Amino acid sequence: MITVGIIMGSDSDLPVMQEAAMILEEFGVEYEMTIVSAHRTPKKLYNYAGAARSRGLKIIIAGAGGAAHLPGMVAAVSTLPVIGVPVKTKTLNGVDSLYSIVQMPPGVPVATVAINGGKNAGILAVQMLAAFDEGLAERVAAYKDNMAKSVEAKAERLENIGYAEY
Ligand code: RP5
Repeated sequence: MITVGIIMGSDSDLPVMQEAAMILEEFGVEYEMTIVSAHRTPKKLYNYAGAARSRGLKIIIAGAGGAAHLPGMVAAVSTLPVIGVPVKTKTLNGVDSLYSIVQMPPGVPVATVAINGGKNAGILAVQMLAAFDEGLAERVAAYKDNMAKSVEAKAERLENIGYAEY
C-alpha cells in the first residue's frame, strides 16, 4: 500500500527528492512520486492535496525551491503531515526556499528539513510510520546502529593513523 507521496515543484528538484525515495526503498516503504507546482499547476496542487488522505497516503514529502509555496499550500489543504524540503537555488543558495517553507503561520505546520535535505525527509517519514509499526521501528534502530558503527570505525582509523594519513 502506498503510504508516502513525494511531490516536487519541478523536475529540476529531482536530484534532491530522489534521495527521499531511495530511503523509502531501503526501508520497504511504498511511495508515489510526481511533479506538482504551486504556481504552474495550482489546480493539480489542490486536487492532489485534497484527495491524498482518501487515497490512503499517510505522509506527504514536498520539495520546492525559491518562492517555495508547495509544502505550505499542501499543508493548508490536507490534514496529513507534510515534510517540506527546501531545494537549493542558484540565486540565493536555498535560503529563499528555507524561509518560504519553514516560516508557516501558527495553525499550519510544515516539518521542514535542511536545505537539500531529501534524505532526512525520507528518514523522518519512515520514523513517523514506525511510530505505529514495530517491524519498521526495529529497522530504524538497526539503521541507527549501523550509522554509529560507521562513525566509530572512522574514529578508530583517525586515532590510529593520524590526520595526515587519514
Ligand atoms: C520551483 O522553482 C521548483 O520547485 C524549482 O525548485 C524552481 C525552479 O524550477 P524550474 O525553473 O527548474 O522548473 O517551483
